Amino acid sequence: MSEHTQRAALHSAPPGGISRQLGHLASEYGNRFLLEPAPDHRLPLHGMHPGDALRLIEQELVLDGIPDRNLATFVTTEMEPEGTRVITENLHRNYIDHAEYPQTAEIEQRCIRMLANLFHAPGDTTGTRTQGSSEAIMLGALSLKWKWRQRREAKGADHSSPNLVFGGDVHVVWEKFCRYFDVEPRIIPLQPDRYTIGPEDVAPHVDENTIGVAAVLGTTFTGHADDIVGINDMLVELKDRKGYDVPMHVDAASGGFVWPFLYPHTKWDFRLAQVRSINVSGHKFGLVYPGIGWLVFRETADLPEELVFYENYLGKRDATFTLNFSTGSSMVLAQYYNLVRLGHEGYSYVMETMQSNARLLAAEITAIGEFHIIGSGDAEQLPLVAFRLDGEHPYDEFDIASQLASERGWMLPAYTMPPNADHVKVMRALVKLSLGYTLVTTLAQDISEACAVLAKKGSLHPHDRKRVKTGTGY
Ligand SMILES: Cc1ncc(COP(=O)(O)O)c(C=O)c1O
Repeated sequence: MSEHTQRAALHSAPPGGISRQLGHLASEYGNRFLLEPAPDHRLPLHGMHPGDALRLIEQELVLDGIPDRNLATFVTTEMEPEGTRVITENLHRNYIDHAEYPQTAEIEQRCIRMLANLFHAPGDTTGTRTQGSSEAIMLGALSLKWKWRQRREAKGADHSSPNLVFGGDVHVVWEKFCRYFDVEPRIIPLQPDRYTIGPEDVAPHVDENTIGVAAVLGTTFTGHADDIVGINDMLVELKDRKGYDVPMHVDAASGGFVWPFLYPHTKWDFRLAQVRSINVSGHKFGLVYPGIGWLVFRETADLPEELVFYENYLGKRDATFTLNFSTGSSMVLAQYYNLVRLGHEGYSYVMETMQSNARLLAAEITAIGEFHIIGSGDAEQLPLVAFRLDGEHPYDEFDIASQLASERGWMLPAYTMPPNADHVKVMRALVKLSLGYTLVTTLAQDISEACAVLAKKGSLHPHDRKRVKTGTGY
């Protein structure tokens, strides 16, 4: 076919359709999807070449943000090539097949033992790998519910109205647990200028039907910790005085891999008598890609036997305590990789580096002269900077977030605090290893520039939003 005839054939495609000629050429030179909409509503009748399918997906994903510029997420966006290799080499192993993959099961147990030790468990204990902190919290809170029921049954007391006490600073998963598992949530509202809770907030809500108190180590909103020592002391005193043995679960989704290295002398874990279980996300400061989380009990007896299922159809009698069954082994192995690769010293180095850069970012943002840093000073905090505008401006935090995203591609969320602090708008930047010194200073300049642009062009949004987030990147 001459070049002229070919061009004519290309241009003779029916409107909205593909000429046969073009379809034929595409199989040689291009990709089918360049000329067709992506399969959408139903399973396509015919498939495509693997390379075409790959490029179809890759082409669309350019519309997603670049993970390294995602300052919203607590979750790992960068791993070493060797850690990534552990993941890719083990994608074909189903973690739950313990009989078939006994060494993976053993490695999971090693991770649990290391974490229990890091969290100062008094002796041998138990725990489980989960998909993330949300699953770990569901399982931990279910254990609290079962244990409470056992205590009530032993006394011959009513056990129809369980409640769980926590602050408005918790992650949404705590309310989800209460709704899914029929427990009354007793949520302590925050105060306009205080974004964590302490014993005086908790005490009025606790009674004989309280299955437990949830306290947070490293809140999603500002990265601070509840007064866990104070709450523990109050619960110990309550036990002595009224005989209510109310356990505490510490949600250390982020803090569990930060506090042991940055604040090793602060007690928040099993050093405190009422702390019976702890969750931590391996995929946050455990530095593994999603999804991996951990639940660790203080003692084996804190896991009610009724919640453990035994089966032997995989070839060996096996105990499971999970909400799901099949899942990949890769992230368990990657967690073990990080634990042995970094050790105590390596994790300390990583956390201190992130903290140092978070402090640098806080100083640079303060120097802009328009912002108030939330919890500056000595407060123990995750490596992040939470800040808000000071004084009157013709724009707000949501405008700054939009301006930064459109001009520089930074994903730096703006959000409102939970009740009763929901009039407070906040911005928050996680400072990970991918945000080194130079990028920190560049980011601060970009924030300053965004403010200057907005001062000229004014607000981009109506300012009356309530609890509308640009995504806190849980
Ligand atoms: C304090 C806290 N708890 C629980 C969660 C849920 O964790 P995951 O995403 O691992 O399920 C998060 C997530 O950011 C969190 O910050």
